[in-house]
Amino acid sequence: MDWFLVVLVLVVAAAGLLRWRRPAWYWMTFGVTLAGLRVLVRYGSVMDACGLTVPPARWRLTLARLGNRPVPGPRAPRVLRLRPTRTGLVLRIKLRPGQDAYDVAASTDRLRHSFGMYGVSSRELRSGVVEIAMTGYDVLKRVQLPARAERSAVRVPVALREDGAVHYRDYRRVPHALTLGATESGKSVYQRGLIAELASQDVALVGIDCKQGVEHAPMARRFSALADNPDSAELLLAALVEHMQDVYQLIRAHQRISADTLDAEIAADIWDLPEDLRPVPVVVLVDEVAELALFASRDEEKRRDRIITSLVRLAQLGRAAGVYLEICGQRFGSELGKGITMLRAQLTGRTAHRVNDETSANMAFGDIAPDAVLAAIQIPTETPGVAVAADMAGGWSRIRAPHTTLRQAVNACNRHAHCTPELPHLAAFRPELPHLNPVPAPAVETAPVAA
Ligand SMILES: Nc1ncnc2c1ncn2[C@@H]1O[C@H](COP(=O)(O)OP(=O)(O)OP(=O)(O)O)[C@@H](O)[C@H]1O
Ligand SMILES: [Mg+2]
Repeated sequence: MDWFLVVLVLVVAAAGLLRWRRPAWYWMTFGVTLAGLRVLVRYGSVMDACGLTVPPARWRLTLARLGNRPVPGPRAPRVLRLRPTRTGLVLRIKLRPGQDAYDVAASTDRLRHSFGMYGVSSRELRSGVVEIAMTGYDVLKRVQLPARAERSAVRVPVALREDGAVHYRDYRRVPHALTLGATESGKSVYQRGLIAELASQDVALVGIDCKQGVEHAPMARRFSALADNPDSAELLLAALVEHMQDVYQLIRAHQRISADTLDAEIAADIWDLPEDLRPVPVVVLVDEVAELALFASRDEEKRRDRIITSLVRLAQLGRAAGVYLEICGQRFGSELGKGITMLRAQLTGRTAHRVNDETSANMAFGDIAPDAVLAAIQIPTETPGVAVAADMAGGWSRIRAPHTTLRQAVNACNRHAHCTPELPHLAAFRPELPHLNPVPAPAVETAPVAA
């Protein structure tokens, strides 16, 4: 008996410790069973208390009356399935006549408290069937992507959603994306994580980083081309437009369409070409995009116009040629001059990290998911990396990318440096490798060392 008590105390202490320090492990060891039992045992009474039951059918009442049996109670939606996941539980229910999916959506907060879960969201699967996704702990607190998440050349996992699902960057479904956020909100870490994931895939990475390359240059060995100032960015973008046109020529030659067909009229894309002919997809990563759109003199203004024109052309025609844009910035609105809103309209994927004002959030979501605007402003400063990602259907969800350090990203890029494709048009922009050509010491004063 004593032994039994000792073991019980040890197990309870271990569970408590895990729950406090490692909620994900706690969930997979103890939490999932306890929560599953709790949901199944309390299901009927919770649904009743949350107003998600309907009165018994008339024929049941009649049968009870005729048989002189007790009057049947209200009926809760039927449980079709309860599935445990890595981060929570997924409950699929069949609604009773007279209920709708909105009833469940409106009760998610009540269900969260009643079942003792961390988060609850619901979505309609088909008419009459609703799925309630519950998370057992704050999955965005310490994000780790599952090692076995699906990965392919143009679809990589980048973040975790608050319902525990993996958020993918899928270039074939959403070719171009815009990521906004105030300073220190986590944009560059998000992009770094994306680069680390893409490094092992069969894609060419092209970087434009007007912070003199501080973000991209350390990962240069995996980049096919890199520009670290607006002058080289202009030439690089022009070369990319040429690359795109060559890819169109290739598709056209393969289709045997006559030479005077306009580029924009070609319906096929690189994915229709046989694998041995298919050009490698190019992901163009732009950090601090506003630097490309600002100017101080007339010459710079002309350069800016050329840059924006190339970006707009890539955004409009790039998808079929396998050129995908991934643009990051603090703000991206009409105050950056002409062509910006036209470019923004082509950037289908929208993600906003913490923003300081509604106007910035509107730049990301105003035109596609107005609900998400408020969610983006409400992201607290203490949780950098948390962002709101919209989908084109008007829905949105809170996501957080894992904290990829520069060292992890550099290691991933170096490990896969041999996969870096050579693109003939971009050969002139192939980055110089930092360890072969160290950057000369800058002419800035260093901070005095404390005595
Ligand atoms: N997903 C994350 N998880 C945990 N911490 C993060 C995450 N993303 C960012 N951070 C923290 O926030 C800091 C700032 O992130 P980051 O450099 O990406 O900001 P930024 O939006 O690019 O800022 P800036 O506009 O100044 O370049 C990082 O140094 C890191 O400590
Ligand atoms: Mg940054």
